[in-house]
Amino acid sequence: MLSHPTDSLLTSALLCLLPVVLFLVGRIAPRAWSQRRDLPVINPRDPWSLSTGSARLRFLLGGPGLIKQGLSKWKVFQVLTNDGPQVVLDPEFTKEIRNHNSLSLGAFMYQRFHAHLNAFRPYQAFFEKDEAFIKFIRKKLAPQADLKCCLIQKLTSTPPEWHPIALKSSLGMIIARVLAKTFVGDPLCNNVRWLQIMVEYTVDSVQTSEALRKWPTILRPIMIHVLPVCRKLKAEMAEAESLIGSVLDQRRLDKEAASQSGQAPKQHMDAFEWMSQHYQEMGRPCDPVIVQLALAVTGIHTTTDMLAQLMYDLDGKDDLIEALREEVTTVIEKEGLTISSLNNMRLMDSCLKESQRLKPVQAVALQRIALEGFDLSDGTHLPKDTPVILSAGTWDPEVYKAPEEFDGYRFLKMRENPANETASLAVTPTSDHTGWGLGKHACPGRFLAIHEIKIVLCHLLTQYDFKGAAERPPQTIIMGTATLADPFAMFSIKRRDQSGSNVLVV
Ligand code: HEM
Repeated sequence: MLSHPTDSLLTSALLCLLPVVLFLVGRIAPRAWSQRRDLPVINPRDPWSLSTGSARLRFLLGGPGLIKQGLSKWKVFQVLTNDGPQVVLDPEFTKEIRNHNSLSLGAFMYQRFHAHLNAFRPYQAFFEKDEAFIKFIRKKLAPQADLKCCLIQKLTSTPPEWHPIALKSSLGMIIARVLAKTFVGDPLCNNVRWLQIMVEYTVDSVQTSEALRKWPTILRPIMIHVLPVCRKLKAEMAEAESLIGSVLDQRRLDKEAASQSGQAPKQHMDAFEWMSQHYQEMGRPCDPVIVQLALAVTGIHTTTDMLAQLMYDLDGKDDLIEALREEVTTVIEKEGLTISSLNNMRLMDSCLKESQRLKPVQAVALQRIALEGFDLSDGTHLPKDTPVILSAGTWDPEVYKAPEEFDGYRFLKMRENPANETASLAVTPTSDHTGWGLGKHACPGRFLAIHEIKIVLCHLLTQYDFKGAAERPPQTIIMGTATLADPFAMFSIKRRDQSGSNVLVV
């Protein structure tokens, strides 16, 4: 039966009005507000305001400053974040908190990113009972042995003339390419659309989760189909499924063909291959889309951010840049470019750790959710589901002389004392240096990240001259507890004259 034209008109009108209706319902419906009365709050709701919007915005734009302010008054307090109220703990609780079995980073990520919704399902990987994904990174994810192939992506191949580039986004695509070689291998690591999805899914999932958070929990499964930013995320997810699906189908066909002709199947050296072994060993199925996008959301932006920040820190320090070049050239000429030679780039290692000390990706050490209630040593009770922030310093003047200064040699000097050898390494999290977090949830991808950053740095230092745009120095962006290297800073770059040297020319 054909519908009457007025029916479809009415339906269209209702559909157009739906967002407005839902928005109004969202404003009226009570928010989950679990602020405690027995703990002080550093940025309470404005007394004249009916909503917590302005307090949340204050946190979004200046989270680290608010936390610092709170710590100057209290050991335990609350901060009203864009995720709702969270309990902040003084660094003196570090020891009892870092390995606490009742505190989960995965639960925090699951909740923050609405992982129960299909478009966010890669975030489920962080909160699994058997920790299959985390164990996969720790045990199986190996850096690529074939190093030069990672550097196909060039910043420029134009004749040696200075020209401007937006540094962070250019580095983002290089890091995506380098990590993709390990994550998806050939041919997907050369597929520009896949690289874009790796980069964009992360940004879009942050933006989308933020947009959804403005709506009551009950309406979020509906809003994800309505808000334009959510639709983009869903489309990326669908495209990722299709790209990964065709690669895996092809690999299956190749294996069948090889076995039919009595040949050994080709062994791929990438996460697709290692993950299927790993999940088989763990006796359970693996969703390759979840694993690949979970790797992308944890790896790409963090690694890009660290590399970009170091480039900003090095800018103008010509002596240090020359010393780094010297180190790269000497080590590679002697040992080649290998995993062990990268470990022997000690000045580079020190510069990376120093840069991360001054600007970690998170201004706080740990963010967790209490899976069950427990008491802190001072008697404060943290009930089940309490979101917890532990603040720990990287600027303590008692630990770091002139803590606000960038000293590329700081950790190299520290390393001279054998007792400090391990703690001085760029991959080592300590309670005075929490750029990788701390304790049982400390970043499992840090070895891979440092390794890949070093490879790209070898390339950048030996192949390019670079300088920042003097008229606009890079500015760190604050988003809640995140501190991000300037995404807009421009650099001038020039291909170096490589005659007489073939170190890492690609
Ligand atoms: C420079 C790059 C990176 C930085 C700065 C970084 C930083 C961090 C931080 C601060 C945490 C939270 C730790 C805690 O709260 O104790 C974390 C967790 C995590 N990172 Fe990284 N990360 C980087 C690269 C990577 C890479 C490349 C991967 C994957 C290959 C990865 C995978 C993870 C995972 C899975 C977790 C959750 C661990 C858990 O729940 O136990 N990260 N990372």
